[in-house]
Order: sequence, then C-alpha cells, then structure tokens
Amino acid sequence: MSARFLILLSLILTLFSCEKKKVELISPSIIPAPQSLQVNPGYFTINEATTVSNNDDFTASHDFLINYLEQVTGREWETKYSDNNAIILEYDAQISSKEGYSIISKDRNITIKASTDAGAFYGVQSLIQLIPLENYQSGVHIPAVTIKDQPGFAYRGMHLDVSRHMFDVDFIKKYIDAMAMLKMNNFHWHLTDDQGWRIEIKKYPRLQEVAAYRDSTLIGHYNDTPQQYDGKRYGGFYTQEEVREVIAFAKARHITVIPEIELPGHAQAAIAAYPELGCAGQKVNVATKWGVFENIYCPSEETFTFLENVLDEVVALFPSKYIHIGGDEAPKTQWKTSAVAQKVIQENGLKDEHELQSYFIQRIEKYLNSKGRQIIGWDEILEGGLAPNATVMSWRGTKGAVEAAKAGHDVIMTPTSHCYFDYYQSENDNEPLAIGGFLPLEKVYHFNPIPDELNEEESKFIKGVQGNVWTEYMTTADQVEYMAFPRMLAMSEVAWTQPAHKNYDNFINRLEYFHQRLDVLDINYANHLYEVEGKLNDQQQYELSTKTLGKEIRFTTDGSVPNSTSTLYDQPIPFTDDLTIKAGVFKDEKLLGKLFTQEFIFHKGVGATISINKEPHKSYAGSGAAGLINGIKGSDSRYGDSEWLGFWGEDIEIEIEFETEVEVNEIELRFYHAPGQWIYAPEKYYLKLETEKGIISDLITTPKENENLVISNYNSERFKGYEDLKFSKLRLVIPNYGTIPDSNQGAGNKAWTFIDEIIIR
Ligand code: ACM
Repeated sequence: MSARFLILLSLILTLFSCEKKKVELISPSIIPAPQSLQVNPGYFTINEATTVSNNDDFTASHDFLINYLEQVTGREWETKYSDNNAIILEYDAQISSKEGYSIISKDRNITIKASTDAGAFYGVQSLIQLIPLENYQSGVHIPAVTIKDQPGFAYRGMHLDVSRHMFDVDFIKKYIDAMAMLKMNNFHWHLTDDQGWRIEIKKYPRLQEVAAYRDSTLIGHYNDTPQQYDGKRYGGFYTQEEVREVIAFAKARHITVIPEIELPGHAQAAIAAYPELGCAGQKVNVATKWGVFENIYCPSEETFTFLENVLDEVVALFPSKYIHIGGDEAPKTQWKTSAVAQKVIQENGLKDEHELQSYFIQRIEKYLNSKGRQIIGWDEILEGGLAPNATVMSWRGTKGAVEAAKAGHDVIMTPTSHCYFDYYQSENDNEPLAIGGFLPLEKVYHFNPIPDELNEEESKFIKGVQGNVWTEYMTTADQVEYMAFPRMLAMSEVAWTQPAHKNYDNFINRLEYFHQRLDVLDINYANHLYEVEGKLNDQQQYELSTKTLGKEIRFTTDGSVPNSTSTLYDQPIPFTDDLTIKAGVFKDEKLLGKLFTQEFIFHKGVGATISINKEPHKSYAGSGAAGLINGIKGSDSRYGDSEWLGFWGEDIEIEIEFETEVEVNEIELRFYHAPGQWIYAPEKYYLKLETEKGIISDLITTPKENENLVISNYNSERFKGYEDLKFSKLRLVIPNYGTIPDSNQGAGNKAWTFIDEIIIR
C-alpha cells in the first residue's frame, strides 16, 4: 500500500467519522412493535435527490409513500428504477405472511420487501415511523435497521359509533388514517341506532328525513337525577357519495369498512320513521337519551322486506365480506305481547322469543349469504341458537367467545373490560365525563385476546381484536380523539405484536416519543404519562411511581401542594396512621402532569386477615380481597380501579379475622350502584360479629334501600351498646341483586355487585 493511498484513506475515514459524529439518529420507536428489529451501524439519508423505486407495482403502498414524502419534504418525488439513494419497494415470494414485510435500511438505500401490496403498505408505515419529524430541508437520517415483521392477528379493528354523535367525513378519514398508521385493517362503522340513522338509503327517504334527527339530547350523565336535555335538534347522515368516498379512502390504506346495521334491537330511529316496522303499533320518536329501548323490529314480512331492501343498498356500497347486523340488547317485551311475533313463533315451531331472535338473525344471514356476504353479530346472537355461518363479536366478557369458538365459529374479541374506550382512562377526578368503568392504557396493553378456556385448535377461531368507541359522552371529534388515543396505540400492539415481543415499559418509552407524531397529526390524545401512580406493598408501605424515565416524584404529607422543593420520593412511605399524600411528577423543577392525592384511613381492619368465598371477576379483581381492608377507598366514579372488587351475579361471603380481639363501634360499607352499567348495590346483606367464645349470630340483619346513586357509603352501621364486647371475627353475607328487571339497562342479565373498603372503627 503506498503512503499516498494511506494518507488518502485516513483522510476519508476522518471525514467519514466527523460526518458520523454530527448525525443524531432517532432510536426506532415503532408502534405497533415489529416482531424483530435490529439496529445496525450507519444510516440512510433522504436528500433532494432521493427517489422511490417501485419495482413490483405495489401501487397503494407506493402512492401512499410518495404522498407522505411530498408532504413532509415539500418537493416532488420521482419514481424511477434505481438502487442508489432510493427507497425500493420489492416483491419477495419468500415472505409467506400476506401482511408481512421486511425492511433493510443502509447507507445506499432502503428496501421494503413484501409478497402483497398490504405487506408493502405496512412496511411503508414502519418506514414512516423511522423518519424523524423535522429537518426535512437539511436532509433527514434514517437509522440502518433490519426489520422482519408480520401481524399476530388477521382482524385488527377499531369501531366508531356515529349514531349517538356524528362526525364529519374529514374526521372519519383522519380516524382511518390513524388506524392505517397503526396497521389496523378493519373499520367497524356503527351507522344505525336508536338515537339516529346515519346512512342514506335511497328507497326509504324517511330514514333521512325522520330517523336521522332527534329533537333533543340528554346532557350530563344518564345516572343523573333528574335527567336533563338540551332541547336542540341534532342529527345528519352520510350520503351514499360520502360513504363511497370513505370506503375508497380506507381501501387505499388496506382498511376494510364494515357497516353495522342494527337489528332487531336498537332500531327506534328506523321505527320512528316507519312505525309499521315496530310491534307496538304506536308512534315513537328518535331516542333522545342513551340506553336500551323496548321498541324493536317486529318479525313481520314487511320488516324483512324493508331490511332486505336496506341491505341491498348497503351491499351495493360496501365491498366488505362482512356485514355487522348488531343483535345486541334486544328486549323481548314487545314480542311477548305481539300477535305477529307470537304467530311467527308458532308457525316456525320456536320455543320462545330468544329462538325468535335467532330465527330473525338467521333469515337475515341467509339473505346476506345469498349475496356472497357473511354476518358478524354481538354475542347475544348466541342466545336461542347461533346462525350457521356467523362470526361473533364477544363484548359481554369472553364467555360468548369461548362458546362460539368451541362451536367452530370465528370470533372477534371486544370485551368491555379491555376494549371499551368510552370508559375512563385515568383516576383523576377532572377527566371529561364518561359512561363509567375504568380502562387505563396499561390494562388495554396487557389484554390477551385468547381466552384461557380455549385449547390451541379452538384458539384459531379467535380472529382478532377491536377497540370500541361508543360516543354517548363524546360530543366532538376532539373528545373522540381524547378517548381513543393513546388506547388505540396499545390496542394496535395487542392486535399486531406477538406476546413475546410486547413490553409495557418499552411501549411507554416509545409512546412518549410518539406524542410528537400525534402532535404533528393534530390528534388530541390523552396524556397520562406524567401522573403519579401509587401502590400499597405487603409491608403496609405506600410506593409511588411514574411511567416515564428521567423524572422526579416530589410529595407532601401535610396537605400542602407539592412543589419542586418538596420531599423527593426515594423510598416507600410507611402508613401507620391516617395519612394524606399529595405528589407530582417533576422535570427541571417543573410539574409535568396533574397532582396526585391519596388518602389513607388507618382503621381497625387494616392489617387483619380477610378471605372471600368467591374470586372476584378477573376483569375487576382490584387489588384482591386484601384491598377491602387496606385503608384506601375506591374512586367514587371509577368502579374498575384497583380498589373496587366486582362479582358478576354471585352471592358472596367475606370473613375478616382480627389479629387480636377489637372493640367494634362502627362499620362502613361501600357498594357501587350504577344501574346504567348493570351494577346494583345489594338489596340486603347480613353482618355477623363473633367473639372468641363463639358466634353472636345474626347480630345485625340489614335490609337497605338502594336510595343513592353511584356510591353508597350510606351503608354505615353504628353499634351502640357493644362497647363491652371485643370481637375476633366479622362475617358479611352479601346476596347478589339478581336478574336486572325489565325496562332497565341490561334487563335479563345478571347484576354486578361491586364492593370496596370495609371501614371498621
Ligand atoms: C354493545 O356494547 N351494546 C355491543
């Protein structure tokens, strides 16, 4: 080697390494996480000369990529065949997953390989997430990576209810765009319900004139007494032209739009327009409040003709294999007294109204099958016999999913416990009004869509998952975004990423970075990353934590508002007396999120031994039985928090054993009572106290009125005259409320019992 060459080489290397040092590369933060991602040395630079090479006609992917690059770089992009300074889309028969892809980015080029346009499209989505969000003018650098990826589930869905509140086509497209970014592929468009019919059906103009509008809307919460209304006409519908526009927009993003036309229940708007479709033979109005209504379609030939005509137009518009026909929450009261309904039952040898619902659904299924389509229905379609080819959307827990999968039917998982994004996502009291429940990001993230009860063969029927966005309490597009994001991101990882590659802490780090992307997209996401979380440990000490790295927690115990000079949290806080902790997350002396407050009641039950004869429902297991005597009250508005225990339809017995005998002067019980959410405080319960010498049986038997909504610390028992006795055990017998009566939300289903802190003084 000549000296001149060596000098030249070292000069090149020096220049090269100087150049390298200046470049700050982003750490790949792709959501949903790919199955494998390896960061290599080096990077690719997008500059003014970079082109796209579409080697194998991946048209939708190519167009989407060019459109994105033109938007962010502000210049025109050329498509030409090149492998230098190019982003290459290439067919690869080796990639067996139809939605799988690989990306290799290196100094010379970036190659996305797939065996279908859908795969290439997901490669493009990952690539876009590798491109930094700024400095397009000076050239952006993409880290050298090798990615191999494919989805865990075939069905990756998001739902949107546009009946309760309606959102314009621009918003629907924004929602679909966000879904595409997250590699979701099914948009479930809930188009009809009691409160408004939102799709133009040309054969039935009164659906547009009457069913699409309501005279007034409930304001505040359904559980408020008295209920109040705004007195304003509300409504609208999507024209068939707009529907086609949405479908085409979605198709270009590999998203199928699945329309939902609700039947036989949730049909009051249609019946308001055409009263002959109902069974009651009376005029009804489009519903102005939320919930379940008695007015359902009558199973007459006239109704079937109407529905078939409606579905003809729906099928002509929507190319989706699936049509969702609802099937949920259809009260049978009117069918019980309808001559028409009873005649259909008799003539078809049906046992009861449940079999009539099944007959109704099966007729519709047959009709849609004859058009080459398949039905999806909510899990109530299992009652009275499942239609032969139906796919079941399991929402009331996972029981429906298990039953359907064992019977060989496809299933999509949307249980309320993990998939209802209309539930609260933070315990913070000043969250915007929501329907109830509590579904924090972490719970969505940890959802395992495969029910434990299924074996490997049966599990194959679980086709995927979906997040549901019911909009009773979301009046604006901004609010929909607040409720849907970031939970939709967590759901995308449930749907796409194999469990072995999921990691919540890692997801949170990626999410913190992803916020910038959501900002650019002008998405009004909820940010609860900078909140304090608390947990009582086994040593009866309180641990504080926050989700993101590089922050401080500061706290007070004297009731004052913490600031940047308050005590730095560095070890668990002992809880040996009544205590109030206020804490906040700080960075650079600035408070980031909202303040956190936790009160502790150091009562006589704290530290005792507790057992319950039944396990709480696994979706509402709080912090277990011990959480009932840990000194912490559950939230007054989030029954799904870590304190409340939920039992579905079960009678329960609780036993508390004190370490040493204690005087008991007062016991305060807390039951959640929210009939709108199927939760009922018990009508009565039994309290027994025991001394060491034996049982003092039936010391108290207490029937109670459920006079109070939402929360009931009214169930407080004061004991006068037992001061001289000391007790070793407390027993509580709590019968379930029973079946939810007619005319109530969830009528016919078992009621839930929710209980939290048992405060013993
Ligand atoms: C539903 O939430 N009624 C399916």
